[in-house]
Amino acid sequence: MKNLHNLQKDFPQLQRFPQSVYLDSAATALVPQVVLDAMADFYTQKANVHRGAHTLSMQATAAFESARADIAAYIGATSNEIFFTSGTTAGLNQLAYGLEQYVGAGDEIVVTRLEHHANLIPWQQLCARRGAKLRFIELTDSGEIDLDSARVVITARTKIIAMTHVSNTLGVVVPIAELVALARAQAPDALTIVDAAQSVAHGLVNVQELGADFVVFSGHKLYGPTGVGVVYGRSAALELLQPALFGGGMISSVSYEKAEWGGVPARFEAGTPPIAEVIGLGAAVRWLSQFDREEVRAYEAELMAYTLVALSKIPQVRVLAPSVPHVGVVSFVVEGAHAYDVGALLDAQGVAVRVGHHCTQPLLEMLGVPVTVRISLGIYTTREDIDRAVAALQIAVQKLS
Ligand SMILES: Cc1ncc(COP(=O)(O)O)c(C=O)c1O
Repeated sequence: MKNLHNLQKDFPQLQRFPQSVYLDSAATALVPQVVLDAMADFYTQKANVHRGAHTLSMQATAAFESARADIAAYIGATSNEIFFTSGTTAGLNQLAYGLEQYVGAGDEIVVTRLEHHANLIPWQQLCARRGAKLRFIELTDSGEIDLDSARVVITARTKIIAMTHVSNTLGVVVPIAELVALARAQAPDALTIVDAAQSVAHGLVNVQELGADFVVFSGHKLYGPTGVGVVYGRSAALELLQPALFGGGMISSVSYEKAEWGGVPARFEAGTPPIAEVIGLGAAVRWLSQFDREEVRAYEAELMAYTLVALSKIPQVRVLAPSVPHVGVVSFVVEGAHAYDVGALLDAQGVAVRVGHHCTQPLLEMLGVPVTVRISLGIYTTREDIDRAVAALQIAVQKLS
């Protein structure tokens, strides 16, 4: 197993900007050189997949399908249980369209109050199209999922439960396995869908352990390229899913009047797939698989605890959901200062953080905080990065108060 020290040398951006601190991995993680090499290899030595009888295409198909196998294995799945999209947003929308016939008037779809817009709006739209009702699992005062609320909201009328695994704004973890078990007990027809965009990079996604019907994530949060995402579906759940995109590559036969779909996963991958991106994501997953997952989790948990303690020492900083465990992400406000000013002053000192509503506008409105500053960690983040960021934050706070 590769150890977690000195990973900076694997990342061209960290090499190029050694004076900067990148604390925005939850938006997009940096990419190791091996990913770029794999993508360059595709563009310089391979061609389209699944079509040509020529060597360049066959080699591309082999690399593409081998990436599929490795990506599936990384989350505890098999190749015929995943299909590729362009990202989490596309995957969730594909599910919302593909399950349209599964939801009827009077049915209910359940989400949590934590959802990113990508796991909220597709379900609002589906409810509007089908005359279904959207219901919400509430949060406790500390910012965690309120299981009592879940017990009330999940009923025999529930057809879909779509929930984030880790909140991209608060960093809190949703107890997916418990909610899936609750769904099995109280809502036998409900399909469970997990937005794993923020958990997959932190070694938390094993589809067998989660037990959900569908799990969706983006490549660019997993040290891979943008433009590729993954949808995992249990075989039985994939049988219920209708294709939402139609065209080449997803059919078994076509006449001028009608078409029949190919098998899974081809029927969910209409058109030329993001070949270079899938191959790049395969390389990212292979790179990540060199590390012991437990060790990564422990390292990141320790670094997050260190970050929370450092932030707690600045009196003007108020962390959201301070008393619960955070994975990867911590949001805070600086009393008396606007988050955008804090972000700008940090940027001026070479520290990259995210400011805004993080595509969770309803959540922040509910919490009475329109925008926050968000720090997020990656596998390459170090204590020195946090020390430098906190020192820069202290300067920003002084200037603004
Ligand atoms: C929890 C969560 N869901 C969905 C998304 C959307 O991902 P993408 O923009 O890659 O489609 C994000 C991205 O920030 C996210 O954090």
